[in-house]
Amino acid sequence: MSEEMRVTVERLGHRGDGIAEGPIYVPGILPSEVVEGVVDNGVMASPRIVTPVEDRVSPPCRHAKSCGGCQLQHASDAFVEGWKSDVVARALAAQGLETEQRPCTTSPAQSRRRAGFSSRRTKKGALAGFHAKASDVLIAVPDCKLVRPRLAAALPLAEALAVAGTSRKAELTVQMTDSEAGLDVSVTGGKIIDDDFRVTLAGIAQEYDVARLAWDEEVLTLRPPFQTFGSAQVVPPPGAFLQATQEGEAKLLACVTEALNGAKHMLDLFAGCGTFALPLARLGRVHAVEGSKEMVLALDKGWRMAEGLRHVTHEARDLFRNPLLPDELTRFDGVVIDPPRAGAEAQVTQLAKARIPRIAFVSCNPVTFARDAKILTSAGYRLDWVQTVDQFRWSTHVELVAQLTLAKS
Ligand SMILES: C[S@@+](CC[C@H](N)C(=O)[O-])C[C@H]1O[C@@H](n2cnc3c(N)ncnc32)[C@H](O)[C@@H]1O
Repeated sequence: MSEEMRVTVERLGHRGDGIAEGPIYVPGILPSEVVEGVVDNGVMASPRIVTPVEDRVSPPCRHAKSCGGCQLQHASDAFVEGWKSDVVARALAAQGLETEQRPCTTSPAQSRRRAGFSSRRTKKGALAGFHAKASDVLIAVPDCKLVRPRLAAALPLAEALAVAGTSRKAELTVQMTDSEAGLDVSVTGGKIIDDDFRVTLAGIAQEYDVARLAWDEEVLTLRPPFQTFGSAQVVPPPGAFLQATQEGEAKLLACVTEALNGAKHMLDLFAGCGTFALPLARLGRVHAVEGSKEMVLALDKGWRMAEGLRHVTHEARDLFRNPLLPDELTRFDGVVIDPPRAGAEAQVTQLAKARIPRIAFVSCNPVTFARDAKILTSAGYRLDWVQTVDQFRWSTHVELVAQLTLAKS
């Protein structure tokens, strides 16, 4: 049943929608704003703003209204930073944790160096971009304010790949990373590769000056697409995890380095390709553990070619099923742990027993972070501070880094 209503939005939901009493979901509306409109099934899809708040701003990107890539362009940076810090505070409070919360730092506009575009053939050619909000409709985003200009400028490449490699029904996922040697592109969802298509892809890679092009498992490398971690240059495997912005990575690394202050034999858990392990190897020995064998091999290769680093060892290991046990952990005096969204309950349970003096905890999910941090504080660790780091500006995604130290008994 639909009904015309006037409501006041009370809070933001985890997808960035305003929520009024009911609950009534009001997209694009901020807390304390009064709106009117038709409510259908608990959603006011087209609200008219009666009373805007001061934190409302004009979206900086001309695609914001239709594109689903960003959720919070209508809010000031100060509002978003406060909201993200609040999300962290609530997750901590739910576990009964208290600590110093440092002010959120946000990566600038046009700084995302990795993005997953979609691309599809159309009657006239092809269209590449992001999906519209909660929809499979594709929106062209040539002036996207989120990604580095080099990525936005590469949308015609994603379109050329769709023209060459899909039927009219299929949609390509084109993951692009702006490496230091040029574009690193991984494509899935297209046709099965054969000899003719291999030649076509090589031609596209040349024409668009791509450093590396992976089509499913097939990889064409024109120049190794490297990233610099400390003094090491690493070539991640196609599609591998990389911190979303260079600025965010630098902030996380500064916090991790601070948290591990004085440690000489460090452990990097969920190490990826060495984002933290390699810069930390200037300060002491590091053992890097990561689930993907290809990623630790890339890390190792980068370490071997670099100069001035202490010894870095590595291990490919599933840390959910097979966490490091206390007798493997006690030789370290500092740990950085950076798990995926699910957190690292199994590994943290073992860490709590090993009593390593310093832990730097990086997390992309405040809820699992607080759950895992509680295991550590219950075992005698102190949660010294939490820093919210926003690499995903204008989104509802929240990341943080924290320092935990063993309280002296
Ligand atoms: C958030 S990323 C962090 C990577 C790295 N610390 C960085 O900053 O680039 C999480 C990493 O955990 C790895 N991973 C996911 N599940 C895992 C598991 N069960 N065991 C070990 N590593 C896993 C992923 O491959 C990924 O590299």
